[in-house]
Amino acid sequence: MITMEDIVREGHPALRKVTEEVTLPASEEDKAILEDMLQYLKNSQDEQVCERYGLRPGVGLAAPQINVNKRMLAVHFYDLNDKLFSYGLFNPRIVSHSVERTYLSTGEGCLSVDREVPGYVPRYRRITLKGTDLEGSEIKLRLKDFAAIVFQHEIDHLNGIMFYDHIDSENPFKEPEGAVAVDR
Ligand code: NI
Repeated sequence: MITMEDIVREGHPALRKVTEEVTLPASEEDKAILEDMLQYLKNSQDEQVCERYGLRPGVGLAAPQINVNKRMLAVHFYDLNDKLFSYGLFNPRIVSHSVERTYLSTGEGCLSVDREVPGYVPRYRRITLKGTDLEGSEIKLRLKDFAAIVFQHEIDHLNGIMFYDHIDSENPFKEPEGAVAVDR
């Protein structure tokens, strides 16, 4: 099982690489890694398991964060309408997005960043994403607000981008133009 010891932190070169496409159908090894990543998120949201193994709660994890240079990500969270988003995806990609932006009013955090980085992170408010799930099916997701933010954060990791790269260093709390805040 993945624990915080397996998660690399900012400064590690794995977090700045553009990752490689996964050859599909995915190998048993790649599937096992992705299943472990998803399990980390579930474990981290279980109070007892979380405490027992000293996990930090997370809603998303990308392969570079465990030093695996492949286009794989896992998410596990409920949106504001209590809808569950629980996916392990190979080669996820944003195929279209809104012009309208959004941002988390509390800013973003990351399992690879052991500090608070204050500021607004502008994201697209709506995205359409395609990828291949753990069962090998090609899926298409239309995502909005919080869900869209989480997936964009994780896809950024696959391209070597950290959330704070998007924060306006001159004015971290400048409201992105025309953006709708998401509270959570
Ligand atoms: Ni992150």
